[in-house]
Amino acid sequence: MNIADEMAVAHPGHVFLECKDLRKSFTVKRKEIRVLRGINLSVNRGEIVVIAGKTGAGKSTFLGVLGGLERQTEGSVIFEGPCMEDLSHEELALLRRQKIGVIFQNFNLLPSWTAYENVEAALLHIGMSKTARREKVKTLLNNLGLGERLDNLPSELSIGQQQRVAIARALANEPALILADEPTGELDGETAQEIIDHLITPVREKGVTLIVATHGIFPLDIATRVFYMKDGTLVPQQ
Ligand SMILES: Nc1ncnc2c1ncn2[C@@H]1O[C@H](COP(=O)(O)OP(=O)(O)OP(=O)(O)O)[C@@H](O)[C@H]1O
Ligand SMILES: [Mg+2]
Repeated sequence: MNIADEMAVAHPGHVFLECKDLRKSFTVKRKEIRVLRGINLSVNRGEIVVIAGKTGAGKSTFLGVLGGLERQTEGSVIFEGPCMEDLSHEELALLRRQKIGVIFQNFNLLPSWTAYENVEAALLHIGMSKTARREKVKTLLNNLGLGERLDNLPSELSIGQQQRVAIARALANEPALILADEPTGELDGETAQEIIDHLITPVREKGVTLIVATHGIFPLDIATRVFYMKDGTLVPQQ
């Protein structure tokens, strides 16, 4: 049993994801920037939550904390039972590797690794054989229309193609939670719709939870709930 499953067994009947009075500040040149100022949010399995808000509002910071990539300053994040802040650095990294898929705003693809290697990276150290990994990566990239681009470096791919590699990487470990930061930011309408379809398929088919951050145009009708981030808090939208 992996660590995340052990935690789930140890905490039956838990909420899926819950933030309580979450706060995050950065200190730059001795000046404190209070970005998240008391976020309370409870998310169920299978929800699609959209966080909208102006540039600089703190959306990426929030997703970074939810994804265990950054530690909050105060408050707690409960994910599938345990409080993330109680986990050691290693436990948090493992939880992320096994249960969370992140699509970064700038993709964060490794520039010297091919599309194939970037996606395969998400499957290392989770006990999957090389053959199974190869099968999985090829299927994912094929499904995303990149079957012919496995050996290309990110610099040899268009922005939309890089974005799809980032999505394949985020979906590779079959996460319970997908955090998508501006997943359709730079794309034309048709490509954006394709990307959205790829993101909502695991929600519909497997009850995955999707949280999307956007400062632009995003089809809000797919969301179960929409929030506007303002002054470091989440304001529910009708
Ligand atoms: N590592 C950091 N150090 C200092 N300040 C930071 C850091 N990361 C983010 N910030 C600050 O936090 C604020 C929120 O940034 P964040 O990237 O979360 O905004 P955002 O809502 O994602 O914006 P955008 O819509 O442009 O992506 C900004 O004022 C930014 O300068
Ligand atoms: Mg951002």
